[in-house]
Amino acid sequence: MESVFVLTNAKSRSISPENPTGEKGRGGKADLSTGSARDAARDLGVGWKVNPYVNVAPGSTYTLAQFKGEGIVNHIWMTLGGTAEYRSAILRIYWRLAAAGFKVWLGARNAERGMAAAQALNAEGLDVHWLEIDVTQDESVAAAVKAVGAAGPSLDVLVNNAGIAIRYDLPPSQQRVADIQATYDVNVFGPIRVTQGFLPLLLAAPAACIVMVSSYSGSIGRALDPTSASYPVNMLGYGSSKTALNGITVAFAKELARQGVRVNAAAPGYTATDLNGHRGRRTVQQAAEIIVRLATLDAGGPTAGYFDDDGPIPW
Ligand SMILES: NC(=O)c1ccc[n+]([C@@H]2O[C@H](COP(=O)([O-])OP(=O)(O)OC[C@H]3O[C@@H](n4cnc5c(N)ncnc54)[C@H](OP(=O)(O)O)[C@@H]3O)[C@@H](O)[C@H]2O)c1
Repeated sequence: MESVFVLTNAKSRSISPENPTGEKGRGGKADLSTGSARDAARDLGVGWKVNPYVNVAPGSTYTLAQFKGEGIVNHIWMTLGGTAEYRSAILRIYWRLAAAGFKVWLGARNAERGMAAAQALNAEGLDVHWLEIDVTQDESVAAAVKAVGAAGPSLDVLVNNAGIAIRYDLPPSQQRVADIQATYDVNVFGPIRVTQGFLPLLLAAPAACIVMVSSYSGSIGRALDPTSASYPVNMLGYGSSKTALNGITVAFAKELARQGVRVNAAAPGYTATDLNGHRGRRTVQQAAEIIVRLATLDAGGPTAGYFDDDGPIPW
């Protein structure tokens, strides 16, 4: 993809395997009732056109549509099956937001890793810039806010994604207070500091979205429900930091509702990343879906919610 433009007065056509010419009114419909189409619909978000669908074998080519004249393809969805992984969760989020027409600031405290990630996305023609930020440091956050403010008058979306988990394998009785404090510095005080810092820019946007990247392990409802997959999980420092983050989500959401800012928490699921030594079962592409969805809500979208791919989950 070389560049992304925002078009007004554009005519749109839905191209699907059952309607490859994009004839008006003949697009495909999602069928939630069977097999992999149901899974695809869940992964993409209910309402997407997923059935019929095509499987493209590795190394083979499939032509879905051929265009004549000027136009723009504004959505290209690819659902990866099995264990396919080729992009980190963070890259995926920014790719999606940049592909949706956003100018993206990719926050990272490490210059080498931050710049490399931004450059990989620039190579795809996306408008992504590395932004130096350590969410535990007041001065670093203030400098990041200044840099974004110098480049434009407002910020439409803030994703509080930075998070750590220290010795979460230990039972509560053995976790060190110092480790829990360090976890809270990033997972709890980080999102407060960053949200407060960027608030003037978010309020200057027409209808900003803030996404707190929480976790199922922050849910007390699931922790106490013997039928829940979270029931056997007992991570004092990390889990309670995400419970606190959920409270922070509701607090900001209540204050900012009247100003049209939506604040929601996402549970991306147990995902293979550095955080857990890549033991998670979900792919980073799957994990990114709910975060992107909450980052791109319509002005009438929900606020003060806690969601996974399938909808609201218990606090
Ligand atoms: N993986 C899962 O199963 C899972 C499940 C539920 C929720 N989550 C949440 O998803 C989010 C992303 O985690 P992940 O799984 O993708 O783990 P990850 O690969 O370890 O990513 C965490 C990111 O946070 C950054 N970070 C840590 N401390 C920071 C600080 N002080 N300032 C700025 N950035 C900082 C790290 O930067 P460095 O590269 O500099 O260390 C890293 O890029 C976290 O909030 C996590 O709690 C993950």
